[in-house]
Amino acid sequence: MKVEIVAKRLEEVTADALVVGLYTGETKLPERLARVDRAAQGQLKRALDLERFTGKAGQVTHAHTDSRRIVVAGLGPRAETTSEVLRRAAAAAVRRARDLGARTVAAEVLGDRMTARQRAQAVVEGAILGTYYFDRYKKEKPERTVSELRIVEPDARRAREAGDGARRGESFALATSFARDLINAPANELHPTDLARAATELAKESRLEVKVFEKAECKKMGMGAFLGVAAGSEQPPKFIHVTYQPSGRPPAGRKRKKVVLIGKGITFDSGGLDLKPPDGMLRMKYDMAGAAAVLGIMRALPALKAAVEVHGLIAATENMPSGSAVRPGDVLRAMNGTTIEIGNTDAEGRLTLADGLCYANTNIQPDEIIDMATLTGACVIALGQLCSGLMTNNQALANRLLKAADAAGERLWQLPLIDEYRENLKSEVADINNVGPRGGGAITAGLFLKEFAGKTPWAHLDIAGPAFSEKDLPLAPQGATGYAVRTILTYLGD
Ligand code: BES
Ligand code: MN
Ligand code: ZN
Repeated sequence: MKVEIVAKRLEEVTADALVVGLYTGETKLPERLARVDRAAQGQLKRALDLERFTGKAGQVTHAHTDSRRIVVAGLGPRAETTSEVLRRAAAAAVRRARDLGARTVAAEVLGDRMTARQRAQAVVEGAILGTYYFDRYKKEKPERTVSELRIVEPDARRAREAGDGARRGESFALATSFARDLINAPANELHPTDLARAATELAKESRLEVKVFEKAECKKMGMGAFLGVAAGSEQPPKFIHVTYQPSGRPPAGRKRKKVVLIGKGITFDSGGLDLKPPDGMLRMKYDMAGAAAVLGIMRALPALKAAVEVHGLIAATENMPSGSAVRPGDVLRAMNGTTIEIGNTDAEGRLTLADGLCYANTNIQPDEIIDMATLTGACVIALGQLCSGLMTNNQALANRLLKAADAAGERLWQLPLIDEYRENLKSEVADINNVGPRGGGAITAGLFLKEFAGKTPWAHLDIAGPAFSEKDLPLAPQGATGYAVRTILTYLGD
């Protein structure tokens, strides 16, 4: 979808469909829409009356005029305007325009609360994310798609602001779609090698550095936990390190912040020898959603001109059962020398993340680390499908992430890392066990990671719930959601 900004009045814009917004209680058409209505011989007002349109958030209606469609999106009460309301309204309206056959859509910068920049960003995010589809493996392609989105703002100064926001929204949405494509790809088409190739290609296109470590190099670095997980697979593991360096120098006297992002990159999680039952295994191609989010984020950083140095790390492997697979009871040695008893081969994500954390602390020494991982079913039990768990050793970092998630419209809820639960990870033979009891499973996983984060400020996002959806959502069709991309971009780009 091509996005551009048009500094004209609504009624002067040419497009197959026009998208406008109405707050609840706006029974009399505001002047800008009254002009559109007059140009349409009163068709707009008639449609609204006939439908008893109340402007409820999520409500959409439309009218046909001689030359085009007019789609009206409800924005809810004016005082409750948020970016998320606008995203969802734009998504629903552009979907309607698309279903009515429109190829070019002109949308006003919906709403009048918040800045034009914020609103334009929300509209573009909603439009792109709400019309995302994954048809790579379908013979039949959708006939109806929107190819052009024109953001309309008559005021020249605000049009510049809106242009800024629109570009930002486009970066955010394309980064999210990029992650969705990787996650939706089936595991037989996306091996660790493919993930590494995706990272390499993206680095070429987006001015990033990339280094891919092969198995032998990982072994030399002592990544025994990561390689333990990889032992059962015929597919070679890859440890991926992508770097974004901001251009120019930091402001005088200021040190540039260095952030590490680690994404869980299990391209398929069968459970290993502790094999998952069929229902539990079905969706496990999406066990690399954290890795995909990291790649999506890295891809967007240059265009956003983020001012922080960002390192993206992915220990990519499958988790498969075989004669060479790690066994329950085996002991692995992580890169920092910590020995880990395998209580369950299905708790593999934390093993790969452990070596990622060690690598970050040894080779990068960042100011902070954020990992994102489809880590535990327990987190889905705790928070459900729409919310991620946040765990941390640094409350200030957690607070900043909670704020970013709220602005991005992605739900995030903090879980406590209760010290006393650490004893649940005690091992008789090694320094630590990779599993604890069922209760509080998301937290024990977090406590396991905490051991490897050391003193570095660190936050862990357990995205097992919202990374994938079994049903259509306002901003994503069934399948991968690309969760975490926009939260972290908001965090890094503000
Ligand atoms: N990838 C899964 C986590 C998961 C489970 C995500 C269900 C989404 C839905 C992870 O590797 C896993 O298998 N975790 C186990 C841990 C257990 C063995 C301690 C789990 O959650 O059951
Ligand atoms: Mn598992
Ligand atoms: Zn897993």
